Amino acid sequence: MQRRFLVFILVCCFVSCKHKETEYHSLEEKIEEESKTYHDPGISSVDFIGDFHTIEITEGNHTFLIPERKSQIKSFACTECHSKPLNQMQRGAEVQQAHWDIKISHANENAMNCATCHNGQNMNELNSLTGHSIDFNQSYLMCAQCHSSQFKDWKGGAHGKNLGGWAKPRTAMTCVNCHNPHEPQIASKWPVRFNSQMEEERK
Ligand code: HEC
Ligand code: HEC
Ligand code: HEC
Ligand code: HEC
Repeated sequence: MQRRFLVFILVCCFVSCKHKETEYHSLEEKIEEESKTYHDPGISSVDFIGDFHTIEITEGNHTFLIPERKSQIKSFACTECHSKPLNQMQRGAEVQQAHWDIKISHANENAMNCATCHNGQNMNELNSLTGHSIDFNQSYLMCAQCHSSQFKDWKGGAHGKNLGGWAKPRTAMTCVNCHNPHEPQIASKWPVRFNSQMEEERK
């Protein structure tokens, strides 16, 4: 009885492993098999990058290009004014002398203030939560400290946007291209086109 059962299992295995060319055990296997015969159409992302200057980054297994930031930040280099420590520049809470346009609407003020991200000692670099410097061109590392799931998705290409789709070399917008770090919420918008036809039909 037991032997017959074993033979039955063996036969099942044999039958299930023997598949036609179009049958796969998993999605990964399918992707791997079908990529073998994929012909790169030769489209390049370079045609879609436009005016962006890019830099190459490697995060984990992913190497791709992102737009360079420092040349885009109006008040960079910060040290043009921040040549001395903040407390020597500030004249007290009542007299604000600069950055009137920057208001934080991000996390609760008990969890975040300017110094969470900007290093009072060296304004030209961002400041990590553990006190390390982060280059303004790699500000995604700043965001990644608290938004690790969006960072993980972004690295793989599931959050954000690739310029030129998946054409090589892969070029992805970086967090601050879409989210203002001081007020990162994306405002809701109306659809690009309002479908008046549908509106008529609903009447
Ligand atoms: C044109 C001069 C100027 C430039 C350029 C400048 N700052 Fe400032 N910043 C100031 C002054 C002046 C203060 C002091 C403001 C006060 O206390 O009223 C200040 C204050 C600050 C503060 C403290 C604000 C607070 O409320 O505690 C931060 C943070 C800061 N700057 C960041 C930066 C960063 C980052 C850059 C570069 C991207 C930069 N600044 C570029 C002039 C400048
Ligand atoms: C969550 C992190 C974070 C906080 C908090 C934060 N900043 Fe920033 N700030 C950034 C990043 C990242 C950039 C660079 C954005 C980019 O690449 O355009 C930036 C840019 C700036 C700039 C340059 C803006 C420009 O376009 O010239 C100034 C000035 C500045 N911050 C001041 C401040 C001040 C003052 C505060 C507090 C009121 C503050 N920041 C709070 C992350 C932060
Ligand atoms: C010190 C931790 C911290 C850092 C650093 C940080 N954030 Fe946040 N962020 C938060 C918290 C906390 C909230 C508020 C979450 C909430 O209210 O549900 C938030 C909210 C947001 C939201 C809005 C979420 C929503 O539900 O609408 C976005 C988008 C965002 N952050 C993007 C960024 C980006 C981009 C950066 C880097 C420039 C960044 N954050 C850096 C902690 C952080
Ligand atoms: C191409 C633009 C783009 C880029 C790049 C981008 N985001 Fe977003 N992000 C969005 C949009 C759009 C939403 C959805 C906003 C909504 O639903 O209100 C969003 C939502 C979020 C939220 C809110 C929670 C959620 O998942 O809906 C967080 C936090 C966030 N992004 C963080 C980041 C971080 C961190 C990076 C960089 C590693 C990043 N984003 C890069 C466009 C972008």
